[in-house]
Amino acid sequence: MPQLSTEILAADGPGFARATELLRQGALVAFPTETVYGLGADARQGQAVAAIYEAKGRPSFNPLIAHVHSAEAAQRYVRWNDLAERLAQAFWPGPLTLVLPLRDGHGISPLVTAGLETLGLRVPAHPAGQALLQALDGPVAAPSANPSGRISPTTAAHVAGGLGGRIAAILDDGACGVGLESTIIGLAGPEPMLLRPGGLAAEEIEAVLGRKLVMRNVHDPLTAPGQLLSHYAPGASVRLNASTAAPGELYLGFGPMGNAQTCDLNLSETGDLAEAAANLFGHLHRLDALGQPIAVAPIPDHGLGAAINDRLRRAAAPRD
Ligand code: TXA
Ligand code: MG
Repeated sequence: MPQLSTEILAADGPGFARATELLRQGALVAFPTETVYGLGADARQGQAVAAIYEAKGRPSFNPLIAHVHSAEAAQRYVRWNDLAERLAQAFWPGPLTLVLPLRDGHGISPLVTAGLETLGLRVPAHPAGQALLQALDGPVAAPSANPSGRISPTTAAHVAGGLGGRIAAILDDGACGVGLESTIIGLAGPEPMLLRPGGLAAEEIEAVLGRKLVMRNVHDPLTAPGQLLSHYAPGASVRLNASTAAPGELYLGFGPMGNAQTCDLNLSETGDLAEAAANLFGHLHRLDALGQPIAVAPIPDHGLGAAINDRLRRAAAPRD
């Protein structure tokens, strides 16, 4: 693909105007959300969406999330329902994606949904992402702004490192606060389903719905696209639930380290899961740059820990 000179845009009036202009032209613009940086294209323009797959080197059967500025805007594209209304009221804008049936005349490119009859929608809370979506007033398809299979980006520098020269622009507004991708809830079937754990704890969603979420069946091909096992993978090998590092390994710690114990980086010295989530991808990027195997301390599996462990298992999975 042709080499581009990637523009770095500031999160201000001229930056939003330029980013909007580029999206309207069908170009790719990476932008911050509170979870991770997204690689955005106008979701109505098939060629623009195709360029996302090309820039990321992504398998084309992965459907993409469409980003909009509000729940009202979401309803232009999908058939809304009562559960969607309750979750949107409680958690939008925020790190939650809802999968709903497409409505007639939606105008979304089939490349976004990878041919499914449903669409994943998200209203991000990040001020720069919001400002961009409001300026465009249209749906922006955006996977995480990293080459396929690599660690998700939580800074503009991560994006530039992975995709610089392959995309038109990066809207730079610092580091992402949540650091884990959005939680994805399927609302197109008979029961609300947790399709991907993420930056909003499943327990919080269950509290609003007043019932348990059905867990995604990993063998169900319709609800599991994109969940390739070896995903978010650093170049180096990753070993999980390691109470200490073996010789030659880097140690990614969690919680207070005892006297005899040191770690190369700590996800959260106080054992705070939200802090660990925000640090996860950044710390993996930093350790990966050192080119040695990585051992990771055990992480509790409740709340945001469930999503952290999901990402770590993917980082550790065997790959081709
Ligand atoms: O936080 C996030 O969600 C970030 C930021 C940029 O918004 N985006 C993100 O996108 O993580 P991506 O493309 O890396 O992950 C999208 C996930 C995929 O695993 C895909 O399978 C699922 O969303 N997905 C999208 N549309 C779906 C649909 N209609 N049905 C089931 N799963 C869907
Ligand atoms: Mg991703």
